[in-house]
Amino acid sequence: MDELIVSNEQHNDQQLQKDVHCKFVCTANHGFAPYAQEELRRRFGSLKSSVLIPGEVFVTTLQEDMGEATERITTRPLIFLRHLFPVHLEVPSEDADEALRVIEQHLSQQAYLEQTQVSIQVRKTEGSSWTANPAALRDEIQQRLASLELGYSVQDPEWIISLFAADKVWYVGVSRPADNLSDWNGGAIRFQREEGQISRAKFKLLEAEQQFGIAFEGFRNAVDIGAAPGGWTSFLLERGMRVTAIDPAKMHPSLQDHRNLRVISKNAGEVKFREHEFDLLVCDMSWSPKQMAKLVTGLLHCLQMGGTAVVTVKLLTKKPMALIDEMMLVFEAARMQIQGAKQLFHNRDEITLYMIKY
Ligand SMILES: C[S@@+](CC[C@H](N)C(=O)[O-])C[C@H]1O[C@@H](n2cnc3c(N)ncnc32)[C@H](O)[C@@H]1O
Repeated sequence: MDELIVSNEQHNDQQLQKDVHCKFVCTANHGFAPYAQEELRRRFGSLKSSVLIPGEVFVTTLQEDMGEATERITTRPLIFLRHLFPVHLEVPSEDADEALRVIEQHLSQQAYLEQTQVSIQVRKTEGSSWTANPAALRDEIQQRLASLELGYSVQDPEWIISLFAADKVWYVGVSRPADNLSDWNGGAIRFQREEGQISRAKFKLLEAEQQFGIAFEGFRNAVDIGAAPGGWTSFLLERGMRVTAIDPAKMHPSLQDHRNLRVISKNAGEVKFREHEFDLLVCDMSWSPKQMAKLVTGLLHCLQMGGTAVVTVKLLTKKPMALIDEMMLVFEAARMQIQGAKQLFHNRDEITLYMIKY
């Protein structure tokens, strides 16, 4: 009898645990949402999800407490999950005015928000009942929350109020910026294009710097493999390094005669370096990943122990997860410790690896 009671209690416990769940609106680079879903599935076992913007945004339900799920995601970020926000309120959206009224009522009751610095981040689908642009919807919410006496800060908010106004449902959540994986709306980080900027590729390195927290000012001597036209090279020079740029293609004329730059106009397979010549190696070759890995590992003797490598891996395959696993194994076998692997917003069909030699 006792046994029966225990097993019933266990059953109830299991039932209770199963009933714990949380919901997130998740975003990946266009076309890569299925891989973000796969990563979540690998980490959490099962999940339910439905598409909000095909290939890009989906809403997912995890059988886990929201705080624990957030911690499991933010402490070990996923490669393809660029951004997420927790769903605290779901509002049927046929009537935008009514949806706004419900959101206003809900948020106005959140006393912890009073007089704090917030950012309101709004996105919408094309079929949403809000027909004007997302910025107008954000302004409308801002006006309706006047009683909370909020301060608005895009740079450094204490809270982010997120709204995704989809076709049938509007999803609302309030979270700390770090819990969203990015403090940019949907993780779409923007950098100002500078006058005379050589290539958009520079944004990838700027984003890697922020994403992985790489202190580029600390390096002295860098090698840039596949450097032309020179966006990454110019970034490294600006950070005060001496740079060796390897590329058979032409570097941008603005880099000519830079006193800290040595250009080697050759295929990287043909160059020879001394042991431990560099403390930073970067490679953005847009090439077959296996060939790239072979080339880079063949040059790793020139990187000092403790030196850093930042490498983009082109995903020229329908099985990117398997390819990434394979690439990581190749680099790990070459005594590179993977510090970070991420599809950055500025990566197209590729990911960026951040590694340290040991
Ligand atoms: C995407 S571009 C690099 C852009 C660069 N990171 C920037 O910021 O301007 C790729 C470059 O890799 C170079 N490349 C491809 N294979 C190479 C190889 N085997 N050795 C050296 N460079 C190579 C190409 O010539 C091309 O200029």
